[in-house]
Amino acid sequence: MHSLFSQPLPTYTQLLAALEQACNEFRDSLDTRRVSNPNVCLEARTLGDQPAGFEAFSQIFNDEIAPQLSASNGGRYWGFVTGGANPVATYADWLVTLYNQNVSKGGDSVASQVERQAIKWLTELFELPAMFEGVMTTGATAANVLGAMTARQEAGLRQGIDVAKVGCKDLDCTVFAATPHASMVKALGLAGLGQETWVQIAREPGTEAMDTRDLARKLSECYSPGKIVIASAATVTGTDYDDLVLVAQLCRQHKAWLHVDGAFGIFERLLTGPNGKTQGIELADSITLDCHKWLNVPYDCGVFLTRHPHTLFATCNVDAPYLANSEEAFPFMSLGIENSRRFRALPVWATLLAYGKQGIKAQIQRNVTQAATLANWIDASPAYELVKACELNVVVFSASAAHAHDTEALLAQLNESGQVFMTPGRWQGSPVIRCAFSNWRTEQRDVELAISELSRLAN
Ligand SMILES: Cc1ncc(COP(=O)(O)O)c(C=O)c1O
Repeated sequence: MHSLFSQPLPTYTQLLAALEQACNEFRDSLDTRRVSNPNVCLEARTLGDQPAGFEAFSQIFNDEIAPQLSASNGGRYWGFVTGGANPVATYADWLVTLYNQNVSKGGDSVASQVERQAIKWLTELFELPAMFEGVMTTGATAANVLGAMTARQEAGLRQGIDVAKVGCKDLDCTVFAATPHASMVKALGLAGLGQETWVQIAREPGTEAMDTRDLARKLSECYSPGKIVIASAATVTGTDYDDLVLVAQLCRQHKAWLHVDGAFGIFERLLTGPNGKTQGIELADSITLDCHKWLNVPYDCGVFLTRHPHTLFATCNVDAPYLANSEEAFPFMSLGIENSRRFRALPVWATLLAYGKQGIKAQIQRNVTQAATLANWIDASPAYELVKACELNVVVFSASAAHAHDTEALLAQLNESGQVFMTPGRWQGSPVIRCAFSNWRTEQRDVELAISELSRLAN
């Protein structure tokens, strides 16, 4: 038997037996385990001098760590926008680890081609122009960082500045947004464009969507040679969509880069087609989407798409002698943040192949129907207030004023029950509860369970 650090290695037979046991325990406990564990404790241990071995790890994981993990991969975790890992993608992800490819520059395996094909399939799934190319990222945040940096590169080129090469000391660039996701604001900071210096565009009354008249006005008044507009499809609380056709027209007129954060909202396109709420996203310069949300692949998997791959390449190009001789025009390590990259495309490729457009669409529709069921019940309940009509997969509600409950306390009690998990938000300045349906495992009976918990708390 081979040995590593003088420790006998577990065999694949042992590993697979342990994995099978873990899978069975996970499956059997998913329905009954607490959905979230707020009070957790990991025993304080010092790093041992001698090897403790696989058995020790396996035992501690089973006894101490696994029971304290959340059921975020289950059907009643509705915080943030959380997808589950679908079975085919889970298996593909195991293979990713088994083969442990580094998808950085091609030339040694087919993995880069799988990623390119998966990206092409995503453009086909969402009926985007074939000219969109891109890269898989750790998540939507990283895709938004690429959006900010590629837009900044383009703004620089308009001013004769190659920002990637000489920095942005002399760059004159203005960013416009109405309701950017917090990760987009973070991305603007990382790109040196400023978390607090973007121009706030007004919102359409009662929504988080961009007021395009205000955008038109503010673009006209702006004399920066570099302009970037950040649009949403959709916002994380209100699921509001900017009017992307109008926004794109304005961007073209004012020579502004249009980045659309469609992390989960782009999936709406599967329901209403390219002329629905996402209409105009196909005109964007760059798009963020997230496969570990509504495509239900394991973390971590976002996607950055752009119709300007040369600009992305100029932004991220990495040049070192030992990295040379790629067979590809745009190797992935020159299209993204990391050099070394996980083969995260495989679970996406597998999901698209195994479930197909219709299977994925059916799953999106199921979640939308589940959200509508909960929203309708809340709307009819005197104890709760549906603060906004539910048009997609997010239900936004609060304790009703008449019922004198405190919304934040109510959320704490709800999550304390361990039956469901929801997260807080703010709507028009007031605290709300957000409940986002994006997991393939969610069943109608899970929604009914949430309704009975909410009824119990109301009483
Ligand atoms: C619209 C939007 N953009 C970006 C993000 C950030 O995604 P991630 O956590 O995958 O980086 C989210 C997460 O909920 C989101 O809803």
